[in-house]
Amino acid sequence: MNRALAAAASTLPGHCYTSEATYARERERIFDRSWLYVARSEDIADAGAFVLLDSFGESIIVLRGDDGAARAFYNVCRHRGARLCERETGHFAGAIVCPYHAWTFALDGSLAAARNMAGVPGFSKDDYPLEALAVEEYGGCIFLNFAAEASARVAPRVTDYLAPLARKFERWNLAGLRRARRASYAVAANWKLIAQNYSECYHCPVVHPQLDELSAWDSGSNDLEHGAILGGPMRLRDAHETMSTSGAGGRAPLGTVDADDLRRVYYYSLFPTLLLSLHPDYVMLHRIVPLGVANSIVHCEWLFAPEAIAAPGFDPSDVVAFWELTNRQDWHVCELSQSGIASRAYKPGPYSGYESMLAAYDDHYRAVMEL
Ligand code: FES
Ligand SMILES: [Fe+2]
Repeated sequence: MNRALAAAASTLPGHCYTSEATYARERERIFDRSWLYVARSEDIADAGAFVLLDSFGESIIVLRGDDGAARAFYNVCRHRGARLCERETGHFAGAIVCPYHAWTFALDGSLAAARNMAGVPGFSKDDYPLEALAVEEYGGCIFLNFAAEASARVAPRVTDYLAPLARKFERWNLAGLRRARRASYAVAANWKLIAQNYSECYHCPVVHPQLDELSAWDSGSNDLEHGAILGGPMRLRDAHETMSTSGAGGRAPLGTVDADDLRRVYYYSLFPTLLLSLHPDYVMLHRIVPLGVANSIVHCEWLFAPEAIAAPGFDPSDVVAFWELTNRQDWHVCELSQSGIASRAYKPGPYSGYESMLAAYDDHYRAVMEL
């Protein structure tokens, strides 16, 4: 999206994309401290429902408690460390029972029963709750923070983190939307390349001729230009209603979306790993999961109004097919970037005015990393 660059800006040095040491520093300075989008609230709709996450080599149980609150625990028994849960998703019947010696944890993480431990000198169940992680829900999205619950390191609440988008979450009624489709992609690229690629459309006429037909590559502007959340709207071309293979929508606008917003698609990158795309009639989420310095998984979700999903003949395949194509086009150039940046010949290159969000992204990254 075009904006004059405040000053000449260049891409990040190669080590940011290729060095194990830099990746380890990112884990400490970014991923252990940030709010990470991990699931939709609907994924753990009722008490006992859970999803299992694999994040930075840690297995995490995210579940719905008896009190309706979302909680997250390391998937590690407090007896002898066994994994408590092996299924990716499911439902705990009131408690989590370890498959090894059957220590039993309540859904709030407290140790409810430990077989034959009553006579052990000094043993108290109160001393062995599951190790918890901070969790907050907002707009139907569950965010997790590796920093311990109530830790001083988690300065902002998730609502502070998302404050710049609060009105967007309301207007598009994110809390009320439901997922109609999802897809996952393995991408041989550093997680930042995926977010950076998302944040500019300089590449669009070259890489995405189909996208450019629906929304002109240079129609963007930015309304969040500094900090953790960056982006803004692009305009739909006159003949088109939404981003889909046909350009037709045929669905009611979400929430209270009207007027100019019916002609726009908003694209935001939420540092570090969530990409949020707000269309008049649906919302797309990309969740980037780093698997290593040069590999990522991207989980893509398409959310619609429940009434649209329930309507006879609902078929999101025009939307999904369009973004499947666009996603794969993007992953390919991300992989080309990763491969080239790993060369000894790579040096930082200059950003164009259409890549101003990348300069802002890099500023934020450098600040957080203290580079
Ligand atoms: S390791 Fe879980 S009960 Fe023994
Ligand atoms: Fe793209």
